[in-house]
Amino acid sequence: MFTPLHQSPLFTRQHEVYEGLGMRAWSEGIVPWRATTCPLLADVEAELIAAFAEDVGEPVTVIDVGAGTGRLGFHLVPKLEARGLKATVVLADIAPSNGRALSEQPQLAALAATGRLTFEVLDALHPTPRRGATVLLAHYLFDSLPHRAFRVTSSGEVLEGLVDVTQTPWAWRYEATNPRAELEGRGAGTFLVPVGAAQALAAWRSTFEGPLLALAADKGVTPRGPLEDPLLAQHESVSAGVDFTALARLADGWVHSSPASASDVFALHAFTTTAAPQLMKCWRERGGRNQVLHLLERFNELLAATPDAEALLGFLETTHDDPDLLAQLSPHLRELTLDDRQAGRLVSLLARAGERHFHFKQQLDVPFSLGITAHGLGALQLAIAWYGRSLAESGAHPSTLLNLALAQKTLGRVDDACAALEVLLEAEPEHPRAKALLDEWSSA
Ligand SMILES: C[S@@+](CC[C@H](N)C(=O)[O-])C[C@H]1O[C@@H](n2cnc3c(N)ncnc32)[C@H](O)[C@@H]1O
Repeated sequence: MFTPLHQSPLFTRQHEVYEGLGMRAWSEGIVPWRATTCPLLADVEAELIAAFAEDVGEPVTVIDVGAGTGRLGFHLVPKLEARGLKATVVLADIAPSNGRALSEQPQLAALAATGRLTFEVLDALHPTPRRGATVLLAHYLFDSLPHRAFRVTSSGEVLEGLVDVTQTPWAWRYEATNPRAELEGRGAGTFLVPVGAAQALAAWRSTFEGPLLALAADKGVTPRGPLEDPLLAQHESVSAGVDFTALARLADGWVHSSPASASDVFALHAFTTTAAPQLMKCWRERGGRNQVLHLLERFNELLAATPDAEALLGFLETTHDDPDLLAQLSPHLRELTLDDRQAGRLVSLLARAGERHFHFKQQLDVPFSLGITAHGLGALQLAIAWYGRSLAESGAHPSTLLNLALAQKTLGRVDDACAALEVLLEAEPEHPRAKALLDEWSSA
């Protein structure tokens, strides 16, 4: 059955898909999360929020709409505090299963216990009324809300894209429709219009009483030729690049600030309902510079390049202590012979990352990776601390226990080392290295 894209099950069933996936959406790498929840973005946004709070002269509530893992909120709370801002951060999501997982995550629960963070089930398109200055964070949210598909023909006629998802691959059909103001001036092509994002902005403006700032971090559109069908990313749920130019035309009553340079990969956009000179100044100086995109580009270059200590360390020192990026670049760092100064810089990074590590089950065991890097540098206490976190978060893996035992033994903590080996042998009684070491150490 052919349906206009925004009314198709791809979008109308999106919340059920997220509810069904729960945290698996991120822990199994189905939906990307690193860019939109990174400490650098939290830092940029904290600065923008502080500027906005100065403009409006009242306390602000920050709502992360579609909060996913909650990792952004975890980074944001201390960054707001560091700027002396008394703001409550609300982690809001349409999927109750996410809400439950967020409130049970120990680091978020600890922040909630101090009153700095709360949790809410919220539909971005039908929010509950609220008063006071509010900042809405929409990170990979607008790409997940309904999009309509239009085709402009070479003669300027506008057609609407209808999709039949019961066919594999999906079948598309195009039917004549009225001209659309948000597409005016466009040449021939196929376009996705973020009608859901426009509906969300309209709902926020009419439901929330008080000055609003919305910060949207999302991917942009990949241009499509006139005869190509629209491009949707499929990751059990679907998402579409956000046409912020079309969105700005649809967003009545909002002032749109776009980034200094356009990108179809990732960009931060700001929408405000009030005059905000401090915010605008901060936008020019920082928010609009798309630092997260540059970070990602540099990260990908470094992953692909021959390891270079100065380049890797210099980069990591700009990430605001992002443990995930550090863990991913750690194998490269472990290949290098570092001089004493470089080793000292890496140990500082490994130590500082401890405070910034947010735990949710994911494919990469970040604490283990950081533990073996610290171990290789001879920073044994630090290695032991990271191994301990790996055991707590990911369970008693033999390689973690073995490395823990080796670090403890080097520090002369023979009893602790033997105890770690015994735990390992309970799980894997025939582990040859553990058996040999336990024999050797317990008879010494
Ligand atoms: C692609 S994920 C992004 C998660 C997180 N913001 C991030 O950047 O990692 C989209 C999130 O939005 C939520 N979501 C989808 N539709 C929503 C709606 N109408 N209102 C609120 N949340 C919604 C989903 O449950 C999911 O957690």
